[in-house]
Amino acid sequence: MTAVPRLKGKVALVTGANTGIGRVTARELAGHGAHVFLACRSEARTQPVIDEIATAYPDAAAEWLPLELGDFESVRRCAQLFHFSRAAFRFICSSTMPGSPASAVTPDRRSSSRSVSTIWGIFC
Ligand SMILES: NC(=O)c1ccc[n+]([C@@H]2O[C@H](COP(=O)([O-])OP(=O)(O)OC[C@H]3O[C@@H](n4cnc5c(N)ncnc54)[C@H](OP(=O)(O)O)[C@@H]3O)[C@@H](O)[C@H]2O)c1
Repeated sequence: MTAVPRLKGKVALVTGANTGIGRVTARELAGHGAHVFLACRSEARTQPVIDEIATAYPDAAAEWLPLELGDFESVRRCAQLFHFSRAAFRFICSSTMPGSPASAVTPDRRSSSRSVSTIWGIFC
């Protein structure tokens, strides 16, 4: 990915970052200097991606942030942690909507797509 500018000083949150498009996005953003939060529901499935980023880019900053899009309290906690994590400019990349299982209606009768929209709404 050559069109991505240097992102030093930027902070990114990537949902669905443990696999697929989110994994590639997190890796590329970290490789271009952003501090990346990988917002995923499983730390065990996310750690290999963090390790992969650390191996490819020893100076990169990447860390797991718990996020279960089917649980609105988890969404709220994730947004708060992200909000208080850094004062620097932030941006969010969602790779869990629509069409993925994360777009299903959740037990608290909200859609996971709405959960992602809520995170967006807090920062945009
Ligand atoms: N791949 C393509 O070519 C393509 C093209 C166009 C559009 N898209 C769309 O882009 C999105 C991502 O595609 P992908 O191929 O990267 O999908 P993927 O490999 O199936 O990844 C989906 C991600 O969403 C996470 N996720 C699912 N439910 C969740 C929940 N309730 N809470 C938190 N995270 C949840 C999964 O985490 P777990 O590992 O924990 O399940 C996983 O990290 C999808 O919406 C897809 O429809 C994909």
